[in-house]
Amino acid sequence: MASTIFKTPCTVPATKGLDREKYVGLRPFSSNLRFDCVKTGAMAWTRHCYKVRASAAHDGPTKKLGLSDAECEEAVTAGNVPEAPPVPPKPVAPAGTPVVPSLLLRRRPRRNRRTPALRASFQETNISPANLVYPLFIHEGEEDTPIGAMPGCYRLGWRHGLLEEVARARDVGVNSVVLFPKVPDGLKSPTGEEAYNENGLVPRAIRLLKDKYPDLVIFTDVALDPYSSDGHDGIVREDGVIMNDETVHQLCKQAVAQARAGADIVSPSDMMDGRVGAIRAALDAEGFQHVSIMSYTAKYASSFYGPFREALDSNPRFGDKKTYQMNPANHREALVEAHEDESEGADILLVKPGLPYLDIIRLLRDNSSLPVAAYQVSGEYSMIKAGGALKMIDEERVMLESLMCLRRAGADIILTYFALQAARCLAGEKSRELYE
Ligand code: PBG
Repeated sequence: MASTIFKTPCTVPATKGLDREKYVGLRPFSSNLRFDCVKTGAMAWTRHCYKVRASAAHDGPTKKLGLSDAECEEAVTAGNVPEAPPVPPKPVAPAGTPVVPSLLLRRRPRRNRRTPALRASFQETNISPANLVYPLFIHEGEEDTPIGAMPGCYRLGWRHGLLEEVARARDVGVNSVVLFPKVPDGLKSPTGEEAYNENGLVPRAIRLLKDKYPDLVIFTDVALDPYSSDGHDGIVREDGVIMNDETVHQLCKQAVAQARAGADIVSPSDMMDGRVGAIRAALDAEGFQHVSIMSYTAKYASSFYGPFREALDSNPRFGDKKTYQMNPANHREALVEAHEDESEGADILLVKPGLPYLDIIRLLRDNSSLPVAAYQVSGEYSMIKAGGALKMIDEERVMLESLMCLRRAGADIILTYFALQAARCLAGEKSRELYE
């Protein structure tokens, strides 16, 4: 509804010139505070713009006069009211501000957004480093190799760079990681046996990490693609069909090998049918009842995975992943997957990618009592990095906002390549900015 605009000279005070932020935490009528009236003549657009603020360097409590409560009350009753700062003058609006009658509103939602302190009071969602899981790429080499499509990410040497990066993450409260191996081509095969080599890169890295940081939470990826000479998450039949049950058999062996090395949470990311139940049974049969399963419940056949596949050199050699990953057009199907995973014994349900799929995160949140995880994938990460590098967006603010939105949609935990950077921001100045 458009409000009527009166073309009259400005006499209406507005709050714009008043630096309300300065009142945060202050009790303006407390006699301990001295208020100074400062004429801010520099603001040419107002006629009388006074800024009233608490004196920055106030000299502690006012001197006591040694009066009793009764004497103080008596003085007030007798009309000797002690001085307190004056009511600040009404701030003046800029010349040309239309004079309009106040809207008769019973509710003005802006009242609860007026100051940083109020906004902090009514904030519905929060994010902490404890909610973040840090995906780390590892390789057999000794050096850390930068990943071109993911600025700031490296294939870390499993004996050096990996340990150092984990130490940095733990320093700022990120104590959960998920490992993705870059497997030498010579170890890849159509059936991906290397996935369950107990002395393979991932089990070795897990043992090393657990030796150094016993309380680190280690998630693993359960899927054949880094080990498959076809670059698919499952075994490929001669006619191109991805074989389900045979692949699940391999995944069970992979999950058990990871659990034996010390993984806390195994995460099947392949989207084969029935793998959660089968992996649960395999883990239990080997005495790994305590190892959790985070199921990639709703993993979509997404183009946002491009940079990741470059990082691991794991692009499918032919075709795409549409016969196992979900159609991005589908919503209800996520519920079908969620019901299956839940009944097969998943401990955590994951949605992937993150930001373009907030509705799916909310869908699972509203339809399951299990924790929900969101994966902010490589493409999401790289877009924010690129936008930041081109100075088109403020990288850190967009990063924190997108993580907050994933939480608001219903994600308990977020897998994100930003985990370390975000936790550093949350620990410092940027977090206050985000909340204000
Ligand atoms: C494969 C896997 C993929 C990712 C995690 N596990 C890629 C794929 O399905 O091809 C993608 C993660 C990302 O893009 O950040 N098992």
